[in-house]
Amino acid sequence: MKTRITELFGIEHPIIQGGMHYVGFAELAAAVSGAGGLGMITGLTQKTPEDLDKEIKKAKELTDKPVGVNLTFLPAFTAPPYPEYIDAIIANGVTAVETAGRNPEEHLPRMKEAGIKIIHKCTSVRHALKAQAIGCDAVSVDGFECGGHPGEDDIPNMILLPRAADELDIPFVASGGQADARSLVASLAMGADGMNMGTRFIATKEAPVHQNVKDAIVAASELDTTLVMRPLRNTERVMKNEAVEEILKIEKEKGDDLQITDILQQVAGVYPSIMMEGDMDAGAWSCGMVAGLINDVPTVKELIDRIMSEADDIINARLKGFLDA
Ligand SMILES: Cc1cc2nc3c(=O)[nH]c(=O)nc-3n(C[C@H](O)[C@H](O)[C@H](O)COP(=O)(O)O)c2cc1C
Repeated sequence: MKTRITELFGIEHPIIQGGMHYVGFAELAAAVSGAGGLGMITGLTQKTPEDLDKEIKKAKELTDKPVGVNLTFLPAFTAPPYPEYIDAIIANGVTAVETAGRNPEEHLPRMKEAGIKIIHKCTSVRHALKAQAIGCDAVSVDGFECGGHPGEDDIPNMILLPRAADELDIPFVASGGQADARSLVASLAMGADGMNMGTRFIATKEAPVHQNVKDAIVAASELDTTLVMRPLRNTERVMKNEAVEEILKIEKEKGDDLQITDILQQVAGVYPSIMMEGDMDAGAWSCGMVAGLINDVPTVKELIDRIMSEADDIINARLKGFLDA
């Protein structure tokens, strides 16, 4: 399949794996790129720029296809040394970077001079237009369904994607709730040039996370996620568990007075225990409603091949059949 996204990133299929904290390691990113999509190493999961340098080199040993890096700009007490992370990205000849969180403008000139294509993750049309205005090459439009941070507008992709298509000139991928060929074809129909998946890629053989995480996603229905941190305007969609119940209790008690320090135990530094050790109640972890559509743990290649072959059937048999009838 050829779209503006496959052309922009030099990939075979218009399928991107979004950055995921403690999931987006070299193994997964290389598997996605190796299968013809675009895998992303999650930059800040690597504790130092030197660690990121090693992780990119590891991915390059696993595949000769382009592997991208996610750089998330989040409000933090002490900002990570972003310029040095970018040094590691440039030095390794990375050609695609997914930026997310805050406005990446100050970091764009260096990356663009190095020939890197930038895809910025946005949860609203106004942020997508801003990304276009500051020179991003593409955007990833994340609807309310998405795992992680859906923003504060709560607009689902059925509305957000056609709205983005009406306003944007640069290409975009649909993100949030994407799982299979139906997602891809629907997203293309709504004006996207491809799709980005997070949660779906966690439930794959290559995702280097504990089996308990994959089992939890397969067992979950579309009713098993909820939103936390809304009072802090840092809303996150997470899998329901004991820690999340505790957060919701604290949020109810504190109301508008909630501070991040009230829930630090449930949200700060919890990913290693969950993703590496499989302690599923250790804290809040991002997960999309799309868990309700995930029923197996295939290899990344099986997943991507299945999506592309079923997309062909939907377009050429089901949809064309309606026209020819
Ligand atoms: C466990 C997990 C961790 C994530 N961590 C990040 C992150 O560090 N940076 C980021 O930009 N997005 C992060 N995301 C969001 C994904 O890149 C992607 O936008 C989102 O998962 C898409 O929605 P979906 O889960 O419905 O596919 C995370 C998502 C999940 C499920």
